[in-house]
Amino acid sequence: MRLGVLASGSGTNLQAIIDAVEAKKLPAEIAVVVSDNAQAPALERARKHRYKHICLNPRNYKGREEYDAALVSLLQRERVGLVVLAGFMRLLSRYFVREYEGRITNIHPSLLPAFPGLNAVQQALKYGVKITGCTVHFVDEGVDTGPIIAQVAVAVKEGDTVETLHQRIHSAEHKLYPWALGLICRGKVRVEGRRCIISD
Ligand code: GAR
Repeated sequence: MRLGVLASGSGTNLQAIIDAVEAKKLPAEIAVVVSDNAQAPALERARKHRYKHICLNPRNYKGREEYDAALVSLLQRERVGLVVLAGFMRLLSRYFVREYEGRITNIHPSLLPAFPGLNAVQQALKYGVKITGCTVHFVDEGVDTGPIIAQVAVAVKEGDTVETLHQRIHSAEHKLYPWALGLICRGKVRVEGRRCIISD
């Protein structure tokens, strides 16, 4: 499976995926890493491990459709079979989602459907939940609404700040995302309506 990883920020999930691929725990190749942010440490991580990496700067495109068209042609050129969003902070257009229907995954720092969208960790703290976590899901045309592949719960501790809680969620993400991608790459995930059926 050829992965196209899209990341806007620090890229710790990208790093977990790189480590799993290099340890042969994840049967996939990283075809390309794309960022919308030239300063993203994710690009530096890709460079260090000698993966093809590209910044597509939104300012160079007229709008979302044009940007996403460039993204699609880049991913097609690299023969990407699975688009992996790893902290990619742009909404994808309907056009993009249709082009890669059923072949886009995302990781989100909450137990969806709770706290979708931006600042999920902050939302959870503010709400006062005792348990939150992270979710890997397929991407559909909504915001964080696609079929759920896997989730892990993380307890909220007394005195947690957004930073301390996000740190523990991040640690959970780094195990969950490569594992969930492994299930997909091994053909173990089937989608039936809203449900992902996992076979052994
Ligand atoms: C992760 O916690 C991921 O769940 C979150 O961004 C962080 C990226 O960290 N994604 C979202 O909030 C998407 N709505 P990373 O750049 O270190 O992988």
